[in-house]
Amino acid sequence: MAASIQKVLNKLSLGENVEAPNEADVKALRLSFETVGQGHVLSFWNDLSDSEKTSFFAQLSKFEPERIAKLSTEALNPPPPAETPVYEPLPESATASILDSPDSSIKAWYDLGLELIAKNEVAVVLMAGGQGTRLGSSAPKGCFDVGLPSKKSLFQLQAERINKVQSLAAKKVAKSNVVVPWYIMTSGPTRGPTQAFFEENNYFGLKKENVVFFEQGVLPCISNDGKILLESKSKVAVAPDGNGGIYRALTEQVIPDMKKRGIKHVHAYCVDNSLVKVADPVFIGFSASKDVDLATKVVRKRNATESVGLILLKNGKPDVVEYSEIDSDTAEAKDEKNKDILKFRAANIVNHYYTVRFLETIPDWVDSLPHHVAKKKIPFCDTETGERHKPEKPNGIKLEQFVFDIFPRIPLEKFACMEVKREDEFSPLKNARGTGEDDPDTSKRDVMDQGKRWAVAAGATFVSEDPAAGVEVSPLLSYGGEGLEFLVGREIVGPAAIEKTE
Ligand code: UD1
Repeated sequence: MAASIQKVLNKLSLGENVEAPNEADVKALRLSFETVGQGHVLSFWNDLSDSEKTSFFAQLSKFEPERIAKLSTEALNPPPPAETPVYEPLPESATASILDSPDSSIKAWYDLGLELIAKNEVAVVLMAGGQGTRLGSSAPKGCFDVGLPSKKSLFQLQAERINKVQSLAAKKVAKSNVVVPWYIMTSGPTRGPTQAFFEENNYFGLKKENVVFFEQGVLPCISNDGKILLESKSKVAVAPDGNGGIYRALTEQVIPDMKKRGIKHVHAYCVDNSLVKVADPVFIGFSASKDVDLATKVVRKRNATESVGLILLKNGKPDVVEYSEIDSDTAEAKDEKNKDILKFRAANIVNHYYTVRFLETIPDWVDSLPHHVAKKKIPFCDTETGERHKPEKPNGIKLEQFVFDIFPRIPLEKFACMEVKREDEFSPLKNARGTGEDDPDTSKRDVMDQGKRWAVAAGATFVSEDPAAGVEVSPLLSYGGEGLEFLVGREIVGPAAIEKTE
């Protein structure tokens, strides 16, 4: 790479402004793209204003043309399919289920998890860099209000759960300064609005210094014939590099901070689950007690056709197989011991536990993780005419890494899986209102049903003319149903929201 481009990259990585490129810089940049057959990206260079030249030069300097050319060639010319993989459920030695574990085990995991939190050894990492196109909202998904009485956004629910788990841990060891740092991964399009939302809402009661934003990478969109697509004459069309982009971004922007803070255990999860138990002590304690490098939570798959990935053994190694990749015989196969349940039922809910010790090895393997191809309709600028087009059918691909592609590299004895109750832990927000599945209404319903169960279990009676009405319990009052004794004997008329103990 030309020294001048390296200089630009260094400045960019330090967040410094990049001055207008000189001729030698542009020549070096042009050559680096021409060498790999992508010289067309600079087709309109001479038509650009000085400020367009500066920003375009900065954007192009962040790409590694050779790597991108290699990735797109591989993506467009995949090797012939390997032999049909052999799928098996994970062995019992690597799994546990909240559904049938004795209460004493669950309590022991909870206590251990809370102790680790109290020692300030636990952090959470949120993947919130997706564009949420299916939901049909232009704001980042975490800002979405699913329609709870309180109008809390997903970000607020998660922030309040962190707040609560900090205070539960602090109470357990009688200490005041328990901190669970929250690292929030955004991408180019979601960074600005996400940070602004947190600022406007005073970080939802968390300390600003403990909410750390970091940014995943983007990759150029590629045409069906392997050319980098331009969004305009002075901008490459880009897309986030998938939730697997978390690994590169963690290494570059987060691990040093975690080490400084003495973090040893990490809970990573996706923004779109309205029931997510952020920094769940049971999961942290379960994983830490097994001394694994990576653990994952699953729920029981609703039925053979549910659109979720499955966690299983693929050719003897832990893996996730997406619903689109599995044949119907495998999806519908029944468990040998219990014909009422599916053989492959471990639905991936993208809740992971990592040790920081393991995350420190990312540089050893991150470049070898595969890229997946998503065929998309990508608006583009014609490099011959300069005209912009909005295609009606897929005209190119986006390249994405998946967070679970590291699973097969983990030795089975360092991998664990915990089955949890769907009604307590998984209600994803994927689709627009009215879809009837995984949409804002189902998210709201599931949060309020859970609150109702907690209130009734705590001794309240619930009455409502509406059979679908529930109770919203503030996460600041209860993390997982605990601490609601003040409701004993109270009558709650649903739908209701409980924010305070009075
Ligand atoms: C994902 C899982 C699937 C699982 C399902 C459960 C992957 C690849 N698939 O599918 O196995 O059953 O969730 O809900 O993980 N994201 C980023 N950056 C990106 C792309 C996505 O941070 O570049 C984040 C999103 O903000 C979201 C999460 O990753 O929080 C999931 O992404 P999405 O693309 O919606 O995955 P699904 O198809 O729902």
